[in-house]
Amino acid sequence: MCKAYLQDQPAVAALKQTALHRAANCHNFRQEVSESMAILQSLGKLRRWEEEALHFVDLCCGSAMTTTFLAISAPKSTVTAVDIRPPQQLPHFQEAGISNVRYLCEDMTRPGFLEVMEQVLLDVALPVIVLGMHCCGALSVVATQIYNRFPQCVAILLCPCCLLRSLDVKRAGTLMPEVPKSLLALENGGPDERYDRWAAGLAQLLPEATCERLPDMLTPCNAMIFARKNRENGGALGV
Ligand SMILES: C[S@@+](CC[C@H](N)C(=O)[O-])C[C@H]1O[C@@H](n2cnc3c(N)ncnc32)[C@H](O)[C@@H]1O
Repeated sequence: MCKAYLQDQPAVAALKQTALHRAANCHNFRQEVSESMAILQSLGKLRRWEEEALHFVDLCCGSAMTTTFLAISAPKSTVTAVDIRPPQQLPHFQEAGISNVRYLCEDMTRPGFLEVMEQVLLDVALPVIVLGMHCCGALSVVATQIYNRFPQCVAILLCPCCLLRSLDVKRAGTLMPEVPKSLLALENGGPDERYDRWAAGLAQLLPEATCERLPDMLTPCNAMIFARKNRENGGALGV
C-alpha cells in the first residue's frame, strides 16, 4: 500500500524538496505515510476535499507530513498545523512555495488554548475539518472539544494513540470535565482491549460518531473515529 502511494501521489514527490525535508524526517517513514494516507482516504469518504475550499486543522501535526500532503493536494484550502514543537522543526513551507499552511505553536492543554483556536477559525473563515492523528491521551479529548464547541467545524477524523497519563487524570476536572470516570481509569484488560475502550469512549464524546479499525495503517493504534455535523445534529453547516 505504501509503495503504491509513494509511486502515485504527486504530493509525495514534493517531499524530495530540500525545503520540505523535515516532513519526511520522521522516526518511522513507512508508518507515517500509512497514517497520512489513512487521513486522506478517510477524508475522501466524507467529501470531495481536493476540490473544495476547507480549513483543515491538523492537531499534533508532528513532522507535518499530513499537513504537507493536504496543502499540496488541496490548494484552495488552508491547513492550520498545531503542535507544541518549535517552528524550526517544521518543513519550510514558504521556501517550498506552499502558502496555504499556518503553524500554531501551542500547548493544547494550556488554559486559553481554545480561545486562540477560535480566533484562528474565525480568521480563516472556511468550513473546518478537525484532524487528530495520534494525539496523545488528553489531546484527543481536546480535539473533540474543538469539534463540539465551534460551529465552523463540520467534520472530525480522530485516531487516538496512547491512553490518558496520570497527569491528564489529575487535571481532568479542569481540562476535560465531560469525560466520564469510566474513561479516566481504563485499568482492566490487555493493551488492545484498553485501546478499543479508549477509542469507543472518545467516540461517545462526539455526536453520531462511528469508529472503525483501518488495517492498512502500519500501527496497532488504527481506530479511526469519524463524525460530521448536519443541520439535524446541531451543525451550523451542512456536509
Ligand atoms: C504521537 S505524535 C503524532 C504526530 C503526528 N500526528 C503523526 O501521527 O505522526 C504526537 C505529537 O503531539 C505533540 N504534542 C505533545 N504534547 C502536546 C501539547 N501539549 N500540545 C500540542 N502538541 C503536543 C508532539 O510534539 C508530537 O508531535
